[in-house]
Amino acid sequence: MTSLPPAHSALLSQAGSFLSDMVTDSRFKMKGSDVSTRLDHIAKEIEETGTYTHTDEELRFGVQWAWRSSNRCIGRHMWRTLKIQDCRDIRTRDGVADALQNHLNTAWKGGDLESVITVFPPRIPGEPHRPDPVRIGNHQLLRYAGFKKDDGTVTGDPHSTEFTERMLSQGWNPAQRGAHTPLPWSIWIDDQETAPLDHFAAHPEQFPEVDITHPEHTGIDALGLRWYAIPVISEMALVIGGITYPCAPFNGWYMGTEIAARNFCDPQRYNLIERIGQAMGLDTSSNRNLWKDQALIAINQAVLHSFDLARIRIGDHHELGAQFERFCEVEEKAGRPLAGDWSWLTSPISGSITPQFHREFSNKVESHTNFFYQAQPAEDAAARGLTAGTEDQQRPKDPFHLAHQHETPRCPFGFDKLSKVLAFKRPSALKKPKFHKG
Ligand code: ARG
Repeated sequence: MTSLPPAHSALLSQAGSFLSDMVTDSRFKMKGSDVSTRLDHIAKEIEETGTYTHTDEELRFGVQWAWRSSNRCIGRHMWRTLKIQDCRDIRTRDGVADALQNHLNTAWKGGDLESVITVFPPRIPGEPHRPDPVRIGNHQLLRYAGFKKDDGTVTGDPHSTEFTERMLSQGWNPAQRGAHTPLPWSIWIDDQETAPLDHFAAHPEQFPEVDITHPEHTGIDALGLRWYAIPVISEMALVIGGITYPCAPFNGWYMGTEIAARNFCDPQRYNLIERIGQAMGLDTSSNRNLWKDQALIAINQAVLHSFDLARIRIGDHHELGAQFERFCEVEEKAGRPLAGDWSWLTSPISGSITPQFHREFSNKVESHTNFFYQAQPAEDAAARGLTAGTEDQQRPKDPFHLAHQHETPRCPFGFDKLSKVLAFKRPSALKKPKFHKG
């Protein structure tokens, strides 16, 4: 084989690592003895085109393996059930909108949610890479807007204020500006932003929601809380065997704490703990009686109760914690230990009565096949042509950011060693992550 330029040989070696993981999965036809033939083909394709194309099987295994590699996800024991919608040939706004509708229909399954991923065209690598054929600007496909008022307060979800402003400036004209207004879709084609698509205004049935009530504390019902049923992350990049798919929205189903503890009670989100305490008639004048803790448990009960009542799938931290623990044990026994991010895997409520609290995890990043944060489509499009120096200054420090993959780690020990050093500390002594979890 002629020697490949460094970027090409890096890609080839990631393809190799990926294929060696694939052969361990007996569901797929690829055997150990097939790998070198396949790698020869891949090398040739990389040499000719700078990239390579996944077979259907590679793509199917790849999305599943990327899920298994997601250190922060407590639901990944389900990784083999991920269904794929292959949309690698879709390049128009209408085509994308159709694919997203199909995705939601498949995922919904009458409330018995199913894990689905839709994969749009891959990035063509290079320095700089080519414009991405498809990107989605939304954080999730279903999400509430956050409208900033003149007095600085927010109606809706404060997490969405920047994106909401962008959508309004791009011509979005919502019928109302409430606490639960679904955001439009921001579809980018070839690095160009297209007009906001207010899909849920036309199809509210595709935005299933649950009204939150409590089996005993009826005061909570009067708060008029609700949440949408399907979490579909749409901003992360999928990487398989070194190939980046910058648009690959995926969903699972909620764990109750994500909605109740984090979305409702985080101070930087709906910030409702005090209103919930008051609605329950608790004495909120001092922390000492643990009214906050009582309110937090009650709202968590309410979310699980309400989803159950609506017959929409939702997990709880005990159930998912036990399933995940069992998965860790099975994988360890089989010699396939799992990496994990303790601070994400441990529940935000009642941490120490879930198994994750009592475990230590290596947080090593599987870089050849995984999901990564990435720059917003607007930043990404603007960054093309910028000098490496400028890009470097803007590079977020999160190890799960795409900008950190396939490069020499900056940290003097390397991520590998660093995570080992950190693993020796008591988890509670770990510094709080700088990045918002959830
Ligand atoms: N934590 C995010 C939210 O509350 C959703 C992240 C994905 N969660 C999931 N269960 N698949 O909206």
